[in-house]
Amino acid sequence: MAVHFADLFLHPQDILFKLWKRLPFGSFKTRMDFDIFPRPHYAYCVWHAARQAELLRIPRISLVEFGVAGGNGLVELEKLAQEVEKEFPVEFEIYGFDSGMGLPAPQDYRDLPYIWKEGFFHMDLPALKARLARSTLVMGDVAETVPRFFEDYPDAAPIGAIFSDLDYYSSTRDSLGLLKAPDQKILPRVYLYFDDIMSAELGGLMCDEVGQLKAISEYNSSNEFKKLAPIHGMQYTRKRPARWNEQIYIHHSFSHNQYAMYVHSDSNRQLPLTNRGLNDGSAI
Ligand SMILES: C[S@@+](CC[C@H](N)C(=O)[O-])C[C@H]1O[C@@H](n2cnc3c(N)ncnc32)[C@H](O)[C@@H]1O
Repeated sequence: MAVHFADLFLHPQDILFKLWKRLPFGSFKTRMDFDIFPRPHYAYCVWHAARQAELLRIPRISLVEFGVAGGNGLVELEKLAQEVEKEFPVEFEIYGFDSGMGLPAPQDYRDLPYIWKEGFFHMDLPALKARLARSTLVMGDVAETVPRFFEDYPDAAPIGAIFSDLDYYSSTRDSLGLLKAPDQKILPRVYLYFDDIMSAELGGLMCDEVGQLKAISEYNSSNEFKKLAPIHGMQYTRKRPARWNEQIYIHHSFSHNQYAMYVHSDSNRQLPLTNRGLNDGSAI
């Protein structure tokens, strides 16, 4: 555990959080709220997708990782799924999409060839299969596997969360085709994590014209009733604001037959007049 001398004075709480990560005690929700998981963004999406499924009375949902590489993300997803299944009456299926060959050749500048090359992030398939307990690997180029996914897996549960890490604009664009799923195959609001939309200095400098951000903006302009949107102000709702908060998007299916179903925990929400002005006017 690397502790810098300056941290002792400037950020003493960071040392406590590093220790907590080493000894991860507490409920799932508490550890999620304080970013104690190795991938807090995965924990957040899995938990919230399950919560939505419970409220909509959907007993089984799918978690999807686009871009598996060595498989560390999928292994973490399996651990999270096992824990969250104890929190909600919801079960998970887990799908990992990858070619198994590493990155394909970039198609053009939009695939950010200044930071990625063909063959990066190769998968050791036998080693990964030996580590996975319950995930389904969907092998092949997503341009081919995504359009036929619901034919190949007709019993797949509705999609609840997607972890998008294919790096390229072209691959992300093709993967987003999965969101065209019919209502019974997708939650009205799907949680997404986009791995490659923020990077400073020479590591990326992504903008709306390249990479995953380009795929997101194109998706939005070509679909009238399905949109990808960040959670505005999410960092202000977190106990420990972090950069991943800006990498979470919600896929809204506005015409979904359950989009308008009431899911708030309070069945009769009122804001009666108070005498002492204690109410801050927030009705969320
Ligand atoms: C950065 S890695 C994924 C890392 C992984 N999510 C993790 O957290 O460890 C990107 C992966 O995307 C895969 N990939 C990129 N474009 C693809 C495509 N068009 N079809 C299938 N897989 C693709 C590559 O094979 C590579 O393994």
